[in-house]
Amino acid sequence: EPKSGRPAATPAPAAGEASTLGPGGLAFPVGFAWGASTSAYQVEGAAAEDGRGPSVWDTFSHQPGRTRDGDTGDVAADHYHRVYEDLDLMKSLGLKSYRFSISWSRVLPQGRGALNAKGLDFYHRLVDGLLARGITPVATLFHWDTPQALEDKGGWEQRDCAQWFADYAQQMFYSLGDKVATWLTLNEPKTVVALGYTTGTHAPGKKDRRVANVAGHHLLLAHGLAVQAFRGTGRKGAIGAALNLSPVYPADGSAGAAKQAAALDIEENRRWLEPVLLGKYPDGWLASQPANAPIRAAVRDGDTAVIGSKADLLAVQYYNPVFVTAQGGRVTKHPTTQAGWLEVYPDGLYDLLTRIKRDYGDIPLTVTENGMPTTNDVQDDDRIAFLRDHFRAAHKAVQAGVRLQGFHVWSLLDNFEWAEGYSQRWGLIRVDATTRERRYKASADWYRTVIAKNGIDP
Ligand code: NOJ
Repeated sequence: EPKSGRPAATPAPAAGEASTLGPGGLAFPVGFAWGASTSAYQVEGAAAEDGRGPSVWDTFSHQPGRTRDGDTGDVAADHYHRVYEDLDLMKSLGLKSYRFSISWSRVLPQGRGALNAKGLDFYHRLVDGLLARGITPVATLFHWDTPQALEDKGGWEQRDCAQWFADYAQQMFYSLGDKVATWLTLNEPKTVVALGYTTGTHAPGKKDRRVANVAGHHLLLAHGLAVQAFRGTGRKGAIGAALNLSPVYPADGSAGAAKQAAALDIEENRRWLEPVLLGKYPDGWLASQPANAPIRAAVRDGDTAVIGSKADLLAVQYYNPVFVTAQGGRVTKHPTTQAGWLEVYPDGLYDLLTRIKRDYGDIPLTVTENGMPTTNDVQDDDRIAFLRDHFRAAHKAVQAGVRLQGFHVWSLLDNFEWAEGYSQRWGLIRVDATTRERRYKASADWYRTVIAKNGIDP
């Protein structure tokens, strides 16, 4: 590993900093996996280097009008070239765990076939660097960047895509599985279905609810086949899916609102949780789809059992609650962040974590995303308040007996926020838009203290 010093802007831990919590502090369980998350297309850049093939996000972001200001992930946070600098930043934060994703088309430029050794080498450098620093790698296999070559064959609309994914996953388990013990199959299939295939605001830009549901089923099937492939390799470790979940509440005390909330809970949560954790779609869900809906034919005998192949953990991503009226409209009841969709409601995380335990049993959980976007300012006190309140909610869930093993903040770095480009800044660490220089935000300093104390002061 080349020598690389701590970046100048990174403060050293203050001398004499207390390593224990003050009275009234909230201590987390020993070994709690404090972490941060990123994804390949959002941070790596080096889009055409070392043999990487294009993904749907390269194609999509280069089409006019798809992203804010025409931003693309061509350079992103330049993490591909700055990996050692970023590893040192993680170390300086004291991270116990780092969740990243593998770019499928970097390791398999055509999506299938022979591995691209140079592309794979990058993940060896990253993982070796993490292990050398005592940071646990958590690898996501699919964070939205379907290889374009596979999209050209129909992508997730094609049932075959689930098997292509499982084959790629198996190659990764064999290549990296002696170093990576925690694997996440899919990131947020709900978002892919909603934005990639229904509103068309994300790649691949389709707008067809019928197709969207089929793609959603194939994504879940891909998850199940990958879990089976993992078992087949005999690798030790844990595997599961990363689901974005939103507790749904009636907006008022009316019976109508309660009814709407129960219905929306199926779409937001149960439709994803039940296949993965119970091996079935919610009772009546499939039958409630129109008789000629393509998903009726797409779901074959045995599929849901494959999807429900026993997982070792569930990765939970929580951002916002949903409040629904008797008319089925969504309303916000709490302040929202600058990015309007994010209604700030930390209790929602507590409700979500305890509900998963109540309804689906005691599967180990880890939060793999939570965070908020801010402006370019490094004095991000709003992010500190946001994270502190969500950490408190997580602590309360632990007190209530939830097997929560870790918490990964989205995100380590400012990065390419999909259709919003670089306008939304989610990082603990600022990345200069022009120079890509890294700089601690106040939240990073604060988080470093939380990790060092394994808890939060009152
Ligand atoms: C969900 C996604 O997994 C991630 O890629 C995105 O940047 C964050 N949430 C913030 O929107």
